[in-house]
Amino acid sequence: MVLHSVLISLPDEKATRHLGKLLPKYLPAGSVILLEGDLGAGKTTLVQGIGEGLGIEEPIVSPTFTLVNEYTEGSLPLYHIDLYRLQPSEIEEIYLENYWEWLEVKPGITAIEWSDRLPYKPSDYLDICLTYNLDRGRIAKLLLVGKLNFNLEDLNSELPILNPEEK
Ligand SMILES: Nc1ncnc2c1ncn2[C@@H]1O[C@H](COP(=O)(O)OP(=O)(O)OP(=O)(O)O)[C@@H](O)[C@H]1O
Ligand SMILES: [Mg+2]
Repeated sequence: MVLHSVLISLPDEKATRHLGKLLPKYLPAGSVILLEGDLGAGKTTLVQGIGEGLGIEEPIVSPTFTLVNEYTEGSLPLYHIDLYRLQPSEIEEIYLENYWEWLEVKPGITAIEWSDRLPYKPSDYLDICLTYNLDRGRIAKLLLVGKLNFNLEDLNSELPILNPEEK
């Protein structure tokens, strides 16, 4: 069964990190992850997990004063972008395509918080939307957009998928 959208329950912060940590196993250099979710939904926590999965030891904090935090010590570069404080016109000016066209930037994994503010998007990406669950944990919805060679079912052995939807 090839899944292109899954819901995963994340009961606590550890589970959010664990999901992030698993992703580099499946995502090749040049992958983009667009993160959505309300304030405090767990976006940065997930990116910290991705950093751990890449073997990055430097602490990952949200890029507040810089636009993009780049971590190059891991198995792939990690580019962490947070659009929370930016207006759409400012976002257009910074040419974020660099972080998915890979002409001037070494291919790695790009993770963008508040990606719903992007005026344009890459053609292929993993969309992760985090929402609050009733039990104070979170639910992650993962959706593959475009061409990504990643069967989301592969996550099932480590983090149970709530509602497998067939493609
Ligand atoms: N699955 C989870 N269950 C409960 N708490 C969680 C879970 N995942 C993360 N948290 C906690 O939620 C809080 C906010 O997390 P985080 O900073 O990652 O959110 P964020 O979406 O990046 O927030 P912001 O919108 O400010 O960027 C942290 O205290 C974190 O430990
Ligand atoms: Mg954040």
